[in-house]
Amino acid sequence: MYQFALIGYPIKHSLSPWIHRQFLHKGHLKGEYHLMELAEDQSLHKHLERLQEQSIHGFNVTVPYKQKIIPYIDMLDEEAKVIGAVNTVLRENNKWKGFNTDGIGYVRSLEQAFPQLEAEREKVNVLILGAGGAARGIYYALMNAGYLYIDIANRTPSHAKAIASLQKTGVKTRIKTLSEVEASLSKYKVIIQTTSVGMKPVTDQTIISLCNLTQESIVSDIVYQPIETKFLAEAKAKGAYVHYGHTMLLYQAQYAFEIWTNKRVPLDGMADELKQILEGESHVNW
Ligand code: ATR
Repeated sequence: MYQFALIGYPIKHSLSPWIHRQFLHKGHLKGEYHLMELAEDQSLHKHLERLQEQSIHGFNVTVPYKQKIIPYIDMLDEEAKVIGAVNTVLRENNKWKGFNTDGIGYVRSLEQAFPQLEAEREKVNVLILGAGGAARGIYYALMNAGYLYIDIANRTPSHAKAIASLQKTGVKTRIKTLSEVEASLSKYKVIIQTTSVGMKPVTDQTIISLCNLTQESIVSDIVYQPIETKFLAEAKAKGAYVHYGHTMLLYQAQYAFEIWTNKRVPLDGMADELKQILEGESHVNW
C-alpha cells in the first residue's frame, strides 16, 4: 500500500490528490495521497521526522517549501540542483531523495502533443519567454532532451543570462529583449511563455504581441488558469498550433509517480477531465 503526500501551504485546492489517485487507479496500485498543510511557522524538520515514522514512500512539495526543504534532503538529483527547487521527494533506504519534475514534465507534455518535434530537436528554433524558476527548468530539460537552438527573451536581461550560463556544449542560446523577439517571431518553431503574465485574475495581458506569428509555430503557455490564456487565444486566431499549460501539470505528476513507483501511467483522457475541473464544469471526485 503506497503512502504519498503533499506538503505546502495553502494546498486545500491542490489538484495533486486527484491526479495521483487517478494514477494509482490506472496503474492498478493500492495507495493513498494525503494533504499535509503546513502553516509556515510549523517546523518542517519535525514534520519530515514524522513522515519517516509514518512509512511514507514519497511526497510532493509545493509553495512555500520548494526551496526551504533542500537543507533537509539527503540527496538531490541533477534537475533539482540546477533549478534550486524540489517538488518531489522519494524515500529510499530511509533517506530523502529530492527531484524536480517540472522541466522534464514540460518537455514530455510538449512532445506528446507534437510528436514530430522529437525528430527535429536538433533543428528547431525554440524561444523561451521569461527567466524565472519555470524557465530555468524548461531550458535545462530542453537541452537534455537534445534541443540545440534555444533563445531566451526576458524583461530583465541579467535573469536570462543567468539561465543561459547553464548552456551545454553544442547548444546555441541568444539573449533577446521582448521587443526584439516580437519583431522576429516568425523565426521560431516553438514559443514558450513561462511567466505569470495572463494568469487569473489579470487575464487581459500578454507578454508580447503575436503580430508577426506564423501558422507554422507552436505557441505554448505554462499558465493554466485560465486554460486558454489571451496569449493562446491570439495564437489560435492566427492559425498557429497551441499547447496548454495544464498538460504540463499532468506530465510533471506522471514523472513524480514514476519516481515513486517505477510505473509510467498513461494519461489518456486525463487532460480533458482536468480541463473540465479547472473550468469548473466538473467537480473533483476525491
Ligand atoms: P517562476 O519561478 O514561477 O517562474 P518567477 O521567478 O517569479 O516565477 O519568474 C517570473 C518571470 O516572469 C520573470 O522572468 C519575470 O521577469 P523579470 O525577470 O524581468 O522579473 C517575468 N515577469 C513577471 N511579470 C512580468 C511582466 N508583467 N512582464 C514581463 N515579464 C514578467
